[in-house]
Amino acid sequence: MKALVYQGPGKKTLEERPKPDVAAPTDAIVKILKTTICGTDLHILKGDVPTCAPGRILGHEGVGVVDSVGAAVTAFKVGDRVVVSCISSCGKCDYCRRGMYSHCVNGGWILGNEIDGTQAEYVRTPFADTSLYHVPSGANEDALVMLSDILPTGFECGVLNGKVEPGSTVAIVGAGPIGLAALLTAQFYSPASIIMIDLDENRLQMSSRLGATSVINNRDGKAVEKVMQVTGGRGVDTAIEAVGVPASFLTCEDIVAPGGVIANIGVHGVKADLHLERLWDRNIAITTRLVDTVTTPMLLKTVQSRRIDPQQLITHRFKFDKILDAYDTFAAAAKTHALKVLIEA
Ligand SMILES: NC(=O)c1ccc[n+]([C@@H]2O[C@H](COP(=O)([O-])OP(=O)(O)OC[C@H]3O[C@@H](n4cnc5c(N)ncnc54)[C@H](O)[C@@H]3O)[C@@H](O)[C@H]2O)c1
Ligand SMILES: [Zn+2]
Ligand SMILES: [Zn+2]
Repeated sequence: MKALVYQGPGKKTLEERPKPDVAAPTDAIVKILKTTICGTDLHILKGDVPTCAPGRILGHEGVGVVDSVGAAVTAFKVGDRVVVSCISSCGKCDYCRRGMYSHCVNGGWILGNEIDGTQAEYVRTPFADTSLYHVPSGANEDALVMLSDILPTGFECGVLNGKVEPGSTVAIVGAGPIGLAALLTAQFYSPASIIMIDLDENRLQMSSRLGATSVINNRDGKAVEKVMQVTGGRGVDTAIEAVGVPASFLTCEDIVAPGGVIANIGVHGVKADLHLERLWDRNIAITTRLVDTVTTPMLLKTVQSRRIDPQQLITHRFKFDKILDAYDTFAAAAKTHALKVLIEA
């Protein structure tokens, strides 16, 4: 089969690999129909993710059809169409029983990281019963690819941890796919305002189309001032960090209102300053989270009923044998205006 393989920092190849086999009775082999590229794949390619060794097939998102199952798999059978979750959960360990699948001691975020991932014609998915989701008949499978990672990430790490409430004020720093997924799912709770902050005008225009009440371009470095103007000098109840650099975390520290929450989503590679000398008396909370994907079944229903339409985030399409072009397009997002690139069998 064809697969996209990480070859060490800065290097990737499209190459021929053997089709995977069931290795444990709880495994399923899924034939991938649609996959996509995540910002985290670019982090891996930069060498930021030491758990991902050269030789690894990348990818942790996708929709496919079950090709074979191990003897212990009962919830899925050959031919079932499935969403592959970016998180593999055994369903049995202490963390899984607490709904914290991201820290499953037998799984967690391993796909396209510690084990071969979804950017291939077939993928071996461990703990299939608790890590795959049935595609409802008649569903828009393009939209469902957004359920593997970005929708639960924006929702769980940003909206739920950030305690977005009816009438509240929200700012989302970073309007990439993750920030936009937070924007879409924050609207479940009818906040009074959602301010999107980015450096890219195209992403801010998309934010306005997807429901932002105001957008701020931080190219001039004046985002904090402008948020204060929009909020009558108060700041925001929820500041969602969806970039992963010190500057954007600092923006969140500067705009959070008394009693508010900073909900960090970004993957940080270097330290960010925590200004407790300014924050100690502001009754705030700071949360961090690796997506658990515990809300995937709920989000699937909201996509199915068209309460949200994540298909709007798909900007480009490629056939699988053009996946290297898909990477180039995705990596040059400022120029290509890419958000999510869909790669199809
Ligand atoms: N916690 C989790 O479980 C989890 C899961 C998936 C992804 N992530 C992380 O979430 C982050 C966002 O992912 P993405 O795919 O949307 O990334 P992305 O790179 O596509 O988007 C980031 C956006 O931030 C903007 N930006 C950069 N610096 C800024 C600044 N100072 N102020 C405002 N905007 C700024 C960029 O223009 C870009 O549009 C990444 O760090 C990713 O690794 C975390
Ligand atoms: Zn991801
Ligand atoms: Zn577990």
